[in-house]
Amino acid sequence: MSWRASVLTLFPAMFPGPLGLSLAGRALRDGLWQLDAIDIRGFATDRHRTVDDTPFGGGAGMVMRPDVLDAAVGAAAEGNPGAPVICLTPRGRLLDQALVRDLSAGPGVVMLCGRYEGIDQRVIEARGMLEVSAGDVVLSGGEPAALLLLDACVRLLPGVMGAGASAVEESHGPDGLLEYPQYTRPAEWQGRTVPEVLLSGHHAEVARWRRERAEEATRTRRPDLWSRHLARRSQPNDAAGRLDGPPAAA
Ligand code: ADE
Repeated sequence: MSWRASVLTLFPAMFPGPLGLSLAGRALRDGLWQLDAIDIRGFATDRHRTVDDTPFGGGAGMVMRPDVLDAAVGAAAEGNPGAPVICLTPRGRLLDQALVRDLSAGPGVVMLCGRYEGIDQRVIEARGMLEVSAGDVVLSGGEPAALLLLDACVRLLPGVMGAGASAVEESHGPDGLLEYPQYTRPAEWQGRTVPEVLLSGHHAEVARWRRERAEEATRTRRPDLWSRHLARRSQPNDAAGRLDGPPAAA
């Protein structure tokens, strides 16, 4: 059985969307992963197929109903046994590569995409959902966040990346550094040259240069990641699986 993504959404036509193309699209056609886009509205019970209602306590917007969502999540979970249930919301813990690695190593994922003002908190708690945010931005719904999460997971599945590609040396890898800068031909372009060492054929020197540039980029661009990297570096016996620390709100 291949890795399975079950997406609960009011807009199933948004899937696979960009994931039907390129690497993820080929992998989907090859059966390396499976995708079910499930219409939440199909679980509404009234004549108007209502999925939302006004918020208790007042305020703008509508809230997605717990009874409808519970039925939808129940059906998705039945078709995707053992998969964690994730709710995409700007209130969630930030998505990071450690969570992506964990998810891609499992059987798959059930994802609930919120719309409107939000989701009734009781169904999130009752179903033990992990609330995940794609970043400190507010999207019009969880769907683009679900696509982002899926793209990151699918590329890590066995057989998805070609033999030439590698997930080992890239930003947000286990050492917590951003990637070093890359260059290709022409060696001179608009008067700009390529760092000499990369043309030297000196593998050890190239590796050292890349390491230094990765550290410099992380230190200057992402002081938050750099502090974590330094903390880890001072504990060399830390288990590899714990490199990225516990999820913020698991
Ligand atoms: N829905 C709206 N904004 C979101 C975000 N930043 N992450 C996940 N889901 C969202």
